[in-house]
Amino acid sequence: MAHKSTVCTAIPYVNSVPHIGNILTDLSGDVTARYLRLRGHDVFFQVGTDENGLKIKEAAEAQGRDPYEFVAEISKRFQDIFDATKISYDDFIRTTSDRHVRASQALFSKLQENGHIYSGLYEGWYDVSTETFFREEDLVDGKSPDGNEVRWVSEENFFFRLSAFEEALKDHIEANPSFIRPNNRRNEVISFINQGLRDICITRKNPGWGIPVPGRDDLVIYVWFDALINYIASTGWPDAPDWDTKWPATVQWVGKDILTRFHATLWPAMLLGAGLPLFDTVVAHGWVLLGGDKMSKTKGNVVRPLELADALAERTSISQEIAVDALRHYLTATMSLENDSQFTYEDFDLRYNADLANDLGNALNRSLSIAHKFGFSTVPDVAPEAEAVQAIQEAKQAFAVAMADYEIARASSAAFGLIRFLGKYIDSRAPWALAKNNDPELAAVITSTLHVMRAAEGLVRPLLPSTADALATQLGVEPTSHWDQIGDPASLPAGTALKNPQPIFPRLEIEKKAPEPKAPKEPKPAKQDKPKVEETLTEITIDDFAKVKFRVARIVEAEAIEGADKLYKLQVMIGEEKRQIVSGIRKDYTPEDLIGRQIIVVVNLKPVKLRGVDSNGMLLAATDENGGAILLQPDREAPEGAPVK
Ligand code: MSP
Repeated sequence: MAHKSTVCTAIPYVNSVPHIGNILTDLSGDVTARYLRLRGHDVFFQVGTDENGLKIKEAAEAQGRDPYEFVAEISKRFQDIFDATKISYDDFIRTTSDRHVRASQALFSKLQENGHIYSGLYEGWYDVSTETFFREEDLVDGKSPDGNEVRWVSEENFFFRLSAFEEALKDHIEANPSFIRPNNRRNEVISFINQGLRDICITRKNPGWGIPVPGRDDLVIYVWFDALINYIASTGWPDAPDWDTKWPATVQWVGKDILTRFHATLWPAMLLGAGLPLFDTVVAHGWVLLGGDKMSKTKGNVVRPLELADALAERTSISQEIAVDALRHYLTATMSLENDSQFTYEDFDLRYNADLANDLGNALNRSLSIAHKFGFSTVPDVAPEAEAVQAIQEAKQAFAVAMADYEIARASSAAFGLIRFLGKYIDSRAPWALAKNNDPELAAVITSTLHVMRAAEGLVRPLLPSTADALATQLGVEPTSHWDQIGDPASLPAGTALKNPQPIFPRLEIEKKAPEPKAPKEPKPAKQDKPKVEETLTEITIDDFAKVKFRVARIVEAEAIEGADKLYKLQVMIGEEKRQIVSGIRKDYTPEDLIGRQIIVVVNLKPVKLRGVDSNGMLLAATDENGGAILLQPDREAPEGAPVK
């Protein structure tokens, strides 16, 4: 029977704007769920929205809206974003739904029955924006430690005996080193518990919004207390006969801000108090920062996932699905569990070009175009070479090890490492040279490149589902549906008809920043003002011209040559062949400007050494009024290595 796994994600407040920070929690859950499904697990993946906060009611009222309609509308907006970003949830739970209300009240009653809830006077400070209680001594300059406004609250309320679970929690955390991940956060939780856990007020005066306390309609359940219950409500607890096939959760994904006080202490204590099993692990990811600050609606510094994807789709003419994968790639490749990550639009573009347009795009294009070029329109009937088989197995292993630790960025790096291996493999096995010499090893090299690509399709699938589909289509195979297929020769049978390569990620033209304004210069001599065509031209015939062979090439590496401040050592791909060219364009272009760009190269110049470095060709550039280079490039993406006439 399939292994059952449950993946839970923290549910966003509906008064917030869905941004790439809170989508990270759901995306992490999604990659985990997709990976576990690929491993053959029977996965239950929960997402949802947190709707009972007082601030949500206030936000609705501020707009003169009915709160139920208001939350339904915003919850739907989140759901639409989850759908568009391919969050493959099995359940979307809303905390205003009947099933959640029922579970929250049942859990409250259970804890009451078990003696973990008592009544008393609550006096203290309440931060409405994070729905958190604070003591006087917690405040900083009269505000919450996060700098939010607080209100004085004095009410007869119910308390949860959190303090009673201190030892049990400590014991559990100690006995289960992977209960809280990553390790630095686990240590933070341990020191928080060591300072002593205080009982927590779990009700508020009923403001006409929220889940009524069973038998006490004048009170509602504290929103964090009810929100945490969503995880078990989602499994169908307490009524559904099969709820215990979905609980305990295998993994709970949260952002670092809601780990210590809520998911690593209060939530497990509630479960212990109710006699319910604890989840296996809670993983906290770092924040996505924008301009050095946590992305948040309150600060107004948010990047909206679909706006970012749609803008990319427009700039590159890719579909929204593929643009969403570019966003998924950015977030998964740069996310960190231990630290925060900084989002910049510039990095987003650079990563698109470097990892997707260049590495993944070239890998696909080269493997398919080499096969077709050397007469293999179907997968050859020979085994792949040991080097390729080993690279696939190593990447697969590294991916699995990373995912076992929920280190998604490391898993992404294992998949992209395999894609980069392919480039090096093709360069070192030089199939064009094997073809020239009619070397029988050519077929094995072609098979190897295709098998590496097939394995890469399987590995990127949990991360970039639409891209993986496009890769499978071009390789002429069904999508990888089980982990065991990755690296299995049977997953790409001999005779499979290969499609012609189609670019999935066309390169993004990154606008150059406006140059720094320069000090006004002395007027230049007239002859430099307007570049003129030489007057004494030597005529050549068409035959002379035909001797010069031009081809479209793509720059894949650019490295400054030490001691030569004008020169770059470039590696360019001319079709499937890689060449080194030395070029004097360093003053005009940075390596980032160059990598991935298509250019025009003269390919039959006699090789020379420039500053001791071999140069096997020359690129074409126009000259600006100061003698600087303006690279010539095709007007639109040209087929790799296309002849220029
Ligand atoms: N509603 C609570 C969670 C209740 S779970 C029982 C909440 N909502 S939230 O909308 O503020 O955050 C939703 C998720 O997004 C949380 O995991 C939170 O940590 C995460 N993030 C919110 N802003 C974030 C960033 N800027 N960066 C990364 N994650 C962030 O908390």
